Amino acid sequence: MSSTPIDAEPAPEQTGLADLSWPLRTDRLEIRPGREEDAAAIWTWYRLPEVQEWTTALPRSEAEHHERWVAQLTEAVVGLHEDEIIAVGKVARQDAWAQADVAAQARGRQAELGWVLDPAHQGQGLGTEFAAALLEIAFDGLDVRRVEASCFAANTASWRIMEKIGMRREGLFREDSLHRSGRWLDGLTYALLASEHYDPAAHEAPAYGLPVQEPGAAASD
Ligand SMILES: CC(C)(COP(=O)(O)OP(=O)(O)OC[C@H]1O[C@@H](n2cnc3c(N)ncnc32)[C@H](O)[C@@H]1OP(=O)(O)O)[C@@H](O)C(=O)NCCC(=O)NCCS
Repeated sequence: MSSTPIDAEPAPEQTGLADLSWPLRTDRLEIRPGREEDAAAIWTWYRLPEVQEWTTALPRSEAEHHERWVAQLTEAVVGLHEDEIIAVGKVARQDAWAQADVAAQARGRQAELGWVLDPAHQGQGLGTEFAAALLEIAFDGLDVRRVEASCFAANTASWRIMEKIGMRREGLFREDSLHRSGRWLDGLTYALLASEHYDPAAHEAPAYGLPVQEPGAAASD
């Protein structure tokens, strides 16, 4: 069997969100890339304390929120329900880790997902519906080979979404994340490969011979 050395392969073409066909429709949502003028509508609920409990950024004013929104527009999507923006998501193309000589082939091959929902519309499965669409945008639209998502372990609603859309828990990190309350909290990372998404049966769990250690179980030596 012959194989092409990976450093002889051309780096894959990289589409962006703006290159895809929009809107994307799910049962209850219309999804499209974010626009600068969306900032004001999003701010009406994004500024609420129950939303900001878990968000990465804490804009202290609408102007700060606007500036931040505009800075991340290339990776932002919004979800509309009955013509109102009720969800904001991130599909951020990222470079995969690679050995230096093959770094060009790893560029942009994965995406990080994120989601935030208007509290007035939470608890109705819309977060899951939105996140499942983000997964499709990453795999089907951007053609990445892997997606990742991370959250505080205490943010049950967010990691439940990751599990409900088929992602695998790949890491529980003890007190790796500083919350703005001043507490060091555990973090979780989930991921999924495109190959697993499209053909789950074809994938076998890797067997590296690493023992699985349950929390609280001391390593024996
Ligand atoms: C995370 C978030 C998007 C979930 O949206 P949602 O529309 O309420 O989610 P869904 O209705 O699809 O529910 C998803 C799962 O989370 C669970 N869930 C929802 N709210 C919950 C809560 N407050 N506590 C525990 N579980 C919760 C649901 O029960 C469901 O799990 P189940 O099927 O096992 O019952 C929303 O809570 C949010 O925007 N939070 C603030 C911002 C945030 O945390 N973003 C993620 C940062 S990593």
